[in-house]
Formats: sequence, structure tokens, C-alpha cells
Amino acid sequence: MANLAGIILAAGQGTRMKSEKPKVMHAVAGRPILGHVMAAMRAAGIYRLVVVTAADAEELRAYAESLGADCVIQEPQLGTGHAANAARERLKDFDGTIVTTYGDMPLVTGECFEASLVAQEGTGLSLVAFRADDPAAYGRVILDPDGLLDRIVEYRDANEEERACDLCNAGIFAADAKSFFRWTAALGNDNAQREYYLTDVPALARRDGMRCAVAVVDELDVMGVNDRTQLAIAESHMQVRLVGAALDDGVGMTSPGTVHLSWDTVLEPDVQIEPFVVFGPGVTVRSGAQIRAFSHIEGAEVGRNAIVGPYARLRPGAVLAEDVHIGNFVEVKNSRVDRGAKANHLTYLGDATVGAGANIGAGTITCNYDGFDKHRTEIGAGAFIGSNTALVAPVKVGDGAYVGAGSTIANDVPADALAVVRAEQAEKPGWAEQFRARKNAEKAAREKK
Ligand code: UD1
Ligand code: MG
Repeated sequence: MANLAGIILAAGQGTRMKSEKPKVMHAVAGRPILGHVMAAMRAAGIYRLVVVTAADAEELRAYAESLGADCVIQEPQLGTGHAANAARERLKDFDGTIVTTYGDMPLVTGECFEASLVAQEGTGLSLVAFRADDPAAYGRVILDPDGLLDRIVEYRDANEEERACDLCNAGIFAADAKSFFRWTAALGNDNAQREYYLTDVPALARRDGMRCAVAVVDELDVMGVNDRTQLAIAESHMQVRLVGAALDDGVGMTSPGTVHLSWDTVLEPDVQIEPFVVFGPGVTVRSGAQIRAFSHIEGAEVGRNAIVGPYARLRPGAVLAEDVHIGNFVEVKNSRVDRGAKANHLTYLGDATVGAGANIGAGTITCNYDGFDKHRTEIGAGAFIGSNTALVAPVKVGDGAYVGAGSTIANDVPADALAVVRAEQAEKPGWAEQFRARKNAEKAAREKK
């Protein structure tokens, strides 16, 4: 395969998002838009990536670099063509084919970039386009009688007839690097926005006698996100894709439209998911597990045949082994729960280990934080923690030990012992009867007045 490099334009201010955050750092299915674009380029075999950013976009650069991209700064932002040209220096030694893309297309796939490379082989330059249901403000792609590109007209610069055209510019170009940068360096800004448009590249190529081929892809794949509504639309399409893939893989869902997945959610076959479950990033659920309604899960692993929820919350570092039951209003964070252990109601397990087969009663709380540091709670295999127990960490409850309901446990409990920390019960025979008689008499006296 040819030597390939990708340029991702991500320096735009994203004004229409009305956000402090750069547009491409907004997440779709829990991953920044930029991450989706980078992954799609790599799926097409384009590994060397240069991301064009604004000067103040440190977070964006750190993210792109963490995924192995190079970053360059475009300052000020004078348009998409000016942005592509900003990558010229960084790629001056590169000899091969360049694919440029806008960074704001979260649904883009490897196939879109492959299509641009295939089309480029014919004429030396290609552009990816799509037929839009509602072309709105997209740049219009006008073809010549040979089906090659005649011109791209930005919406603002287009006349009535050009605006009626539904073939739109997706913003992916492929060309040989030397030619491409010769054109980006020669762009002008004689247009409605006084910007250097990447879309003027084909006109410069034509002066060199090179025509631009057009690859048409599905509209959804190349939808651009410019505002919050488009971000929400992209998210809903991404969810349809992810949920569809999970169903195809043998995951059961009674109400797929209400389940929210992350880009990296791993659900094994025969996992069963009830309605209204949210998966944040970093979740794996093993075969046979049931995730019941209204649960929220992130950074967690759920073992085979485990049952989670309804109304459970698993936070990062929650690891549930096989057959574990985590019930309603139970929160688990940074804790390992071994095989067959149960915490069925109203419990917080934070920074804990729970041994196999242990039973955690309703209202058990691991008091893991003293305002400065986090401390661990260790509960042994087969231990029984009575309801409404506070475990003041650091603390250990030995294998097979019992803790009486309502205890505050601040000292270690030996294996197989019983620990109860509870004030003794006092009884006053007949007290309630006397109390009621007195109160009723007072009430009757008041009502007489
Ligand atoms: C652009 C295209 C339009 C196309 C549409 C597809 C141009 C002039 N217009 O319009 O033809 O139909 O995308 O979604 O190319 N960027 C920079 N530096 C800049 C300006 C933009 O890096 O100076 C980046 C942005 O971060 C963004 C991308 O380029 O990722 C596209 O910019 P955007 O403002 O979204 O362009 P559109 O108006 O959507
Ligand atoms: Mg855009």
C-alpha cells in the first residue's frame, strides 16, 4: 500500500457549540469526536496523523498525542485551507498520499477514507461527497458531464441554482503530498467569509491539469457536528450503531432504544440488559450476566451470571466475579467482590474487597474516607455483615465472621467470631399504653375548649 498520512483539522473555534471546550473534544458515546475520527483513519490504514489545533487547545493536544498523533498549531484560524496548510512544515519530509479530513465527523468510518483513496488512484485528487436530505449550509459539490468535480461552492457564496444541488462536500480530500501542499500554499481568500477555503484546492489542481474525482458515501457517516443539536443527533445515531452491533453479537435487550452504550462497552453473548441502563466508558460484562433496569455502570467488570440492579451503580474499579448479586441502591467503587457474594440492598462498598459468598446486609456502609485519605475494608469469604453496619476503614472482617446489625465496626473482627457494637436494649413495660392515654386525654381537653 502507498505511504499514507492523515491531517485532521481541529483548530476551528466551534463557536456554534457555545462551549469553553474545543468542538472535537465533545464526546459521542463517551469518546471525544476527535478519537472517533482518528480511529476511523487508522481503520483505513492511515497511521501517521497530524492534528491541527488552536494555540490554547492544550487538552486537545494532550489527548491527540496520547493516541499517537502529532499536533501543529494554526493561529489565527483563517479557514480550513489555511488549517491544512499549517501541517505542511510537519510533513515536509513525507513522500506519499495525504488524506485530509475535518475533525468534526464522529460517525465517519474507515470505509469513507478507503473510498477517498480508491477515487484518488484514478485522477490524483479526490473528494468525498454525500447526497443530503437537507443540504442546509454544507458546501455544494457541482459535477461536470464526466462525473468529475466541476467546483465546490460554499453555501454563503452559492447562487439559487447551486443551493438547489443536494450533493455536498464531506471535507475529505486525498492527493499526493507534494501537490497537495503546493495547492494549500497557493490558496486565496476571495470569498464571502474572507477565509482560505480547503474547498478551493480542486480549482488550483485543475490549473495544473489535474481533475478531482468524487467518491459518494452515506450522508450519516460524514455528518458534521457544528452545534449541540447536531451533537445530540450524532449521539443518537451512534447509539443505534452500537446497540445494533451488540444485538448482532447475541446480547439481549428488551428495550434497546433506552440503553446507552459507550464506544468501548464489551458485552458478551447472552448478557441480558433491561430498559434504561447507562454504560459509561470502560465496562465489560461477561456472558450470562443480567443488568437490570435503571443501573449506571462505568469502569467496571461484571462477571459471568452476575446480577446487577435494578437501580445499581458501579463506579470505576468495581470488579464483580461470577454469580455476584448487586441489588437496588447499591453503589460499588474500586472494590472487588468475589464469587457468589451478595449486596442486595442500599449499600456502599468503596475501596473494599468482599470474599466469596459473603452476605452484605441492607444499609451496610464502608466508611472509606476521612476527609484526607481513602482506606480499605476487607471482608472475608463467607462473612455475614448485618444490616445497617458501618465499617470504619481501615478494617478487616475475617472469613466466616458475623457482624450484628447496627454495628459500627472500627476494629478488626477475627475469622468466625461475632462482633456486635450496640447499646443494650431497655424496656419499660406498659409505657406505650400510658403514653397514649395521657396524650388522648390532653387532646380531648383541648377540643372541649
Ligand atoms: C465545512 C466545509 C463545507 C462542508 C462542511 C462539511 C469549508 C470552507 N467548508 O464547513 O464545504 O460541506 O465542512 O461538514 O471547508 N477548522 C480549522 N481551522 C479553521 C477553520 C476550521 O482547523 O480555520 C476545522 C474545524 O475545527 C472543523 C473543520 O475544520 O473540524 C471544519 O470547519 P467548520 O467550521 O466545521 O466548517 P463547516 O462550516 O462545517
Ligand atoms: Mg463543520
